[in-house]
Amino acid sequence: MRGPSSLGLPALSLRERRPSTVEQMDRPDCDLDALHRTYRGFGVVNPVVAGWQLTYRRWIRPLLETARTVTVLDIGSGGGDRPRAVARQARRDGFRVNITAIDPDARAHDWATARPAVPGLAFRRAVSGDLVAAGERYDVVVSNHLLHHLEPAELDGLLADSERLAVRRAIHSDIRRSPAAYALFSAGAGLATPLFPGSFIRPDGLASIRRSYTPGELAAVLRPGWRVHTQLPWRNLAVWDAR
Ligand SMILES: C[S@@+](CC[C@H](N)C(=O)[O-])C[C@H]1O[C@@H](n2cnc3c(N)ncnc32)[C@H](O)[C@@H]1O
Repeated sequence: MRGPSSLGLPALSLRERRPSTVEQMDRPDCDLDALHRTYRGFGVVNPVVAGWQLTYRRWIRPLLETARTVTVLDIGSGGGDRPRAVARQARRDGFRVNITAIDPDARAHDWATARPAVPGLAFRRAVSGDLVAAGERYDVVVSNHLLHHLEPAELDGLLADSERLAVRRAIHSDIRRSPAAYALFSAGAGLATPLFPGSFIRPDGLASIRRSYTPGELAAVLRPGWRVHTQLPWRNLAVWDAR
């Protein structure tokens, strides 16, 4: 079996998290056209790599109801393709959901709100602390690809906010760092580059993998009451259930 080094990849560099690796889209001065192409690309890449069909079926759908509207909060929604997909899937399954998707980045908010509206989904420009301060509660709190972006104090704050905001469950889904994930994403995104030319999808995806956690690393930084579930092929889910 070919190892990461035989693929020309930096095997050693994946042994440790690289939180200092910069993602282009996080730079306030990054090219706006490239950022918009990246948001568009997420709509293609997320369904392939992020595994939200599985996450929805195992962790969200069992909490949905037909007789009552269940509220969902998506933190760090970016271009908004995930909450759109979850809202559509829940409605297809016959459930009543109301999803609030928040992101503090004006560029993400403007992009998301410029797309066609989806019933039961609202975008707001905010961080989780704003909603805690306003006393808001949601049945289910989720995020995708947010954990690896955060500094240790921010991560702790996000988890504490999630506990205050979630009435029933919080699920933060993120990439699991591994040489195989890096190699496959590198090759796959390279082949798929014509689908999203001029975007940050490939460099930022690889940077995200370098910044992301192994299950053990993530478990070590979670607050009491949280646990890590791994989901194939390369996901870490930080899950918290209300008692
Ligand atoms: C890599 S993007 C992921 C976007 C989206 N969830 C997805 O999977 O495509 C991370 C997003 O989190 C947002 N973000 C970073 N820190 C945040 C915080 N403390 N609260 C809410 N959103 C945050 C950023 O603005 C960015 O748009």
